[in-house]
Amino acid sequence: MSKALTYLAKARPEAATSLLSFYKHSVQALDEKTRHLIQIVTKVTVGTERGLRQYAPKALKAGATREEILDAVLMAFPAAGLNKVLDAIDIMREMDLLPEVEQAKAATDDTATLLGTISDWPLQRMVTLQRPGGDLLLFRSAAETVVVYSARCPHSKANLCHGTDHGTQVECRVHNWQFDLASGACLQPDNGKALQVMATEVRDGQLYLLETPQ
Ligand code: FES
Repeated sequence: MSKALTYLAKARPEAATSLLSFYKHSVQALDEKTRHLIQIVTKVTVGTERGLRQYAPKALKAGATREEILDAVLMAFPAAGLNKVLDAIDIMREMDLLPEVEQAKAATDDTATLLGTISDWPLQRMVTLQRPGGDLLLFRSAAETVVVYSARCPHSKANLCHGTDHGTQVECRVHNWQFDLASGACLQPDNGKALQVMATEVRDGQLYLLETPQ
């Protein structure tokens, strides 16, 4: 809680209690990452540096990538205008919360696509990446070990981004095939099929996609 709210809680307890209760109970359906990304949009829109410095690191901690944080800053543009967006970008760059331009340029040079910063993704959990070129599943099995798959089920091409997440396995919702996310192998049924592994490359902690699903 900010010092100002702490002060208000003592100086005007009735008003502060209502305000804090509103903050606590008004948002119930959004997950933590989405809440913090929306907070970034609102903080840029109203031009509060303090709020931006408070919520942008929370978004990163909740699993947002630096690309998503940049998207949130830019989404404020229609309401905030260019100057507030540029001020926010200066603050975010100072806090090392935005993607590196040089790395993005390197990806453009050889047609590789930057997927994100490896350390931003959780360990031993499925991550879905929805992209115009084809949705992907990403699994970070160790600190520097990430494997990326086409999200299309090898059975009948259902999108596994909508599959059931069993932690280290994903289950297709159409015919219930289950895949091990570390190896890509189909475990149930044991039919020798596997998810399609995408070619990737790691540069300075950034993961690049080198091809798109067939
Ligand atoms: S389409 Fe996935 S199991 Fe059939």
